[in-house]
Amino acid sequence: MPLTRVHNLSISLDGFATGEPQSAEAPFGHAGERLHEWMFATRFWDASGTAGMDDAFAQRHSHGIGAEIMGANKFGPPGWQDDPDWKGWWGENPPFHSPTFVLTHRPRPSLEMEGGTTFHFLDATPAEALAAALEAAGGQDVRIGGGATVVRDFVAAGLVDLMHLVQVPIVLGRGVRVWDGLEGAENDYDIEAVSSPSGVTHLTFTRKSGSLS
Ligand SMILES: NC(=O)c1ccc[n+]([C@@H]2O[C@H](COP(=O)([O-])OP(=O)(O)OC[C@H]3O[C@@H](n4cnc5c(N)ncnc54)[C@H](OP(=O)(O)O)[C@@H]3O)[C@@H](O)[C@H]2O)c1
Repeated sequence: MPLTRVHNLSISLDGFATGEPQSAEAPFGHAGERLHEWMFATRFWDASGTAGMDDAFAQRHSHGIGAEIMGANKFGPPGWQDDPDWKGWWGENPPFHSPTFVLTHRPRPSLEMEGGTTFHFLDATPAEALAAALEAAGGQDVRIGGGATVVRDFVAAGLVDLMHLVQVPIVLGRGVRVWDGLEGAENDYDIEAVSSPSGVTHLTFTRKSGSLS
């Protein structure tokens, strides 16, 4: 059975996956790049980077994935829906290399990019979006790529099988939090934590077999 997976979702100690306000100049708001410095230092991101624990976790992001689902606020800054030429942050060859479903209340025609990424824009429930992504994934797993709101909604709907969060030792105080409304979510998962010498903590949530979706 293909799995629905979250990888490399970086959160502050107080649970924020992005700061505020989000803008074209500051996609993560006042968080800047601090949530992802651990990842930028790895070989996953940069060929001259580290190859230790952080890299091993980061690399899992790409293996066995046949499609991604992301939210409108990951795809672009506020107001991107008003720009008919907006194609995402990532240039002509985005790093997804698979069908990528963008959840938005203002869908537009699909956009075929270089390197195997096609953006499909969907106004749909999480379950409907996942069904479309699973079909497009050709038997491989589906990654829920974020941001916080979309991950939270998919966890709330009981659709996430495996989730890798990276807790970064910063306190953001404001932004968009992953955990709001998910009281007791830990009960559905076997959870492991491992601290990296870099200072981040990798948390893996694996859905308990009895409650696999
Ligand atoms: N920390 C990390 O590792 C990480 C990872 C990925 C992204 N991010 C960051 O997280 C931020 C984005 O997160 P976010 O929580 O603000 O937003 P998000 O999850 O990216 O997107 C939420 C938006 O998507 C649309 N949407 C969500 N569900 C929908 C549905 N079922 N049907 C139709 N539309 C739906 C809505 O936008 P509309 O109503 O406007 O259409 C909603 O406001 C960005 O700053 C991004 O860079 C962080």
